[in-house]
Parts: sequence; C-alpha cells; structure tokens
Amino acid sequence: MTARKAVFIETIGCQMNVYDTERIAEGLRALGYATASSPEKADLIIANTCSVREKAEQKAFSFLGRLNRLKKSNPRLIIGVGGCVAQQEGRRILRRVPHVDLVFGTAAVDRVPAAVAKIEKNRCRIVDVAMHDGAAAPPRRCDTPMEGGVSRFVTIMRGCENYCTYCIVPLVRGSEKSRPPAAVIQEVKDLVRCGAAEVTLLGQNVNSYGRKEGLPAFSDLLEQVNAVDGLLRIRFTTSHPKDLTDELAACFGRLEKLCRHIHLPVQSGSDDVLRRMNRRYTRARYLERIALLRRICPDIAVTSDVIVGFPGETEAAFADTMDLVRQVRFDNLFAFKYSDRPGTRAAGYGNKVPEDVKSERLERLLNLQAEMTREKNENKTGAVLPVLVEGKNRKPPRTASAAVSSAGEWTGRTTCNRIVHFAGPEGVRPAGVVDVRIDKALAHSLRGRVVENAVHHHPAKGKKCHAA
Ligand code: 5AD
Ligand code: SF4
Repeated sequence: MTARKAVFIETIGCQMNVYDTERIAEGLRALGYATASSPEKADLIIANTCSVREKAEQKAFSFLGRLNRLKKSNPRLIIGVGGCVAQQEGRRILRRVPHVDLVFGTAAVDRVPAAVAKIEKNRCRIVDVAMHDGAAAPPRRCDTPMEGGVSRFVTIMRGCENYCTYCIVPLVRGSEKSRPPAAVIQEVKDLVRCGAAEVTLLGQNVNSYGRKEGLPAFSDLLEQVNAVDGLLRIRFTTSHPKDLTDELAACFGRLEKLCRHIHLPVQSGSDDVLRRMNRRYTRARYLERIALLRRICPDIAVTSDVIVGFPGETEAAFADTMDLVRQVRFDNLFAFKYSDRPGTRAAGYGNKVPEDVKSERLERLLNLQAEMTREKNENKTGAVLPVLVEGKNRKPPRTASAAVSSAGEWTGRTTCNRIVHFAGPEGVRPAGVVDVRIDKALAHSLRGRVVENAVHHHPAKGKKCHAA
C-alpha cells in the first residue's frame, strides 16, 4: 500500500492550463497523491505556468522563488514546473531555480506521473520538453462523483499555427493538432459519468478544428457532443474571427445545449494594427460576423480580448478600437497592455508605445467597458433566467443581515455566462438547472432567487434561439 502523499498544483494562465492541471492531478492520484490545500502541506509542488504575457511569466518565477524556503526545511520535497514557461526555458530553469527537480513541457502532461515516480526513487532531476504527445490521453477518472465540479474542460486540439505577430503560443505549444472526435466524445461521456453537466471544448482556435487532419469540421463535432446523453450545456473557447464559418454560427440556432455565448477576440479595431498583428480579418469582417451571430441568436453574449499599445498603435488607431467596442457593445472584455514576447515578430517591430501611454489607453478602454457591462447586467434585472447550479456561494455576503436573508445562497451561471448568486428552496442541487428571477445587478455578477416551482434538472427546453 502506497503511503498517502499530497500534491499542490499552482495553475497560472489560461483554461488550457486548468485542464492540464486536472489531468496531472488525476495521473498523480494513481501514484498515491491526494490534493494538498496549500504548498506547506505538500510533498510535491507543481507550477503550471503561462508565458503568453510578461506578467504571467513573472508570476511563475516569483511563485517558484518562494518555494526555496520550503525546500530548505524539507529536502525531500519535489518541485516541478510545467506549461509554457517550462517549454520555452527548458533546462535553463534548473540553473535559474536550483531547487526545481522536474521541468516538463506542454506535450508532456501525461508523462508527469512516470517522471515523479523516477524522482521519488532516484532523487534525480528531469527535463522533458519533447514536443511529441506520445500515447493517447488516458481516460478521465473520478474517484468520487462530482469531485471535479459541474463544469469541466475538454481539450479538443493543442498548438496553434496562426502566428499572430505578438503571440508566443505557436512557439511554445507547437503546431496545431486536433484530437479525433471519438476520443473527444469518449472523454465527454466519462466526465458526464463523473457528474459533469457542462463541458467547455478548448483549443487555441477551435474554429479550425480538424482542418489539417481532414477530420469532421468543428460544427460537426459540436453536433456530436450535443447528442451526448445527460450533458446539459456546451461551451467552447477560443474562436478566431477569420475561421468563424457560417456553419458554426448556425449552431447557435440549432443546437439546444450550446450556450448563448461566444468569446471572439478582436485584439484591435484598427485595420492597420490588425494587418500588422497578422490577424487576417478586417474590422468590417469582424463586425459582419457579429451581425450574423446576432441575426441567428439575438441575445447571444459576446466577449472579447483586446491588446492596447501594440507597436505603432497611434491615437487614431486606438480611437478605432474604442469605436468598435462602442459599436459591438461586448458583454465583457479582457484588455491587456501589449508586452514583447521573446521570439515573436512584433518584439522586433519599432515604434513601441511608451508604458504610460499604454496604461492610460487601457484605463480608458476598461472604463468604457465597465459602463457597458454594468448597463448590460442592469438590463437583466426582472428577467427569469435558467441557471446551471454550480455549488454553494463561497463568498457569502459580509453583513449579518444580508447573510440571514441569503441563507443557503447558491452560485451558478446563465447560458450567456453571467455568474448568478441566488437563494433557493429545498431541492436545489449542483448540476441542476433552475429558473432564477434576477433582482439585482452587481459589477460582475447578478443576484436573484429561484422562481417558485422552478427547480428542474433539464436544459431549458424550448428556449433555444431561432435559426436564421
Ligand atoms: N501582449 C499582450 N497581450 C497578449 N495576448 C497574447 N499575447 C500578448 C502579448 N504579447 C493576449 C491576447 C490573447 C490573450 C490570451 O492574451 O489578447 O487573446
Ligand atoms: Fe496566439 Fe493568434 Fe494562435 Fe491565438 S490564434 S494562440 S493569438 S497565434
């Protein structure tokens, strides 16, 4: 019998890393590792890192730096680094952070348990940044039902070969590779068996799923996932506007489990900047795709990413972005200051925008979006929305009177991905869908209560959008 050991995994960056972290944890469970609630309680600590922006990379190194103290007090502690920073830096990490035992790249996730077992036995240091995926991903395991939560991720493709000029992803995650539909469907079924009600299909650009391998198109894959019994909701991310086909847009009118939300990063509203970013669409084409989606599904929520201060971004170009944001009225926006990433084309571009100008533009953009997010949320007050119950609200209201009135508060999401906190009667349970009347809009969430007699556990039938 293996002694009970514990692993703490720090996940930095995107949902792809959240997915990889789950896989690593599942693989390590077979080696006897339970999940530790803090690094102090762990025998193995893993940092799953991200290098898409400079800030995320700094976060990874400062986390690793803090572990030095723990390693000194417990020399048997094993420390691993995975993800994009590990892929990019490889062996150099061993020199830069001497207390690290294991460096594993973005394609080595399923080889982590074997590497850890070797380190336990031989007390050696291992670097595995080979880009081949190796064996097919093992099936999803759940030792106790619902342990992974109601909403789960499924990676359907890895890598990217779009080479947006600012982006490090193609350099650290390699070329695009899609998983066969049968493997994806099997994994979705496994997760549903483990208690999942919702899956989010993940890839750097899911819209080009299968194109290279001659597999069915992404819209066909969605149709297959839609047919999985017991699954209530489907989401996907991320989409690239250049590959958003009419067929995919039509899915929002046709597939009843597909949530009415799309994350469609625009990056900039200026044609000149888009061209130099190598995005391969124009502002007009982006707006046309949004119009198509809204014709098919009038209440679809659209969220986006924007980079401010790309090299050579003039005040007029930034004004084009502000104008596009005003025109589209996104439901939410993730905005970032441009940062040079090593090895990318844009890192070599001239006309860098000064830091203070970037900060000032970011603030203007975020203020504009905050106003629109607030308005959009306020428009939901009074509405009755089907909410997928995710679990108990982990951050209950602070005042005593609010706590009393919201006893038994739950958290869930609307199909358009808004977080809803609500009080519910007996019978509410995770993985069910309940109708919630919204009575208050906050900056980042909604509050409401379950409509009487509206506790049910099936997707909102008859509430799908109309086809174009
Ligand atoms: N600088 C700033 N933001 C970036 N992103 C990607 N690369 C960079 C960079 N070099 C942003 C993009 C992308 C999101 C995941 O991160 O907006 O959509
Ligand atoms: Fe990066 Fe562009 Fe690929 Fe997205 S599509 S991962 S921004 S290169």
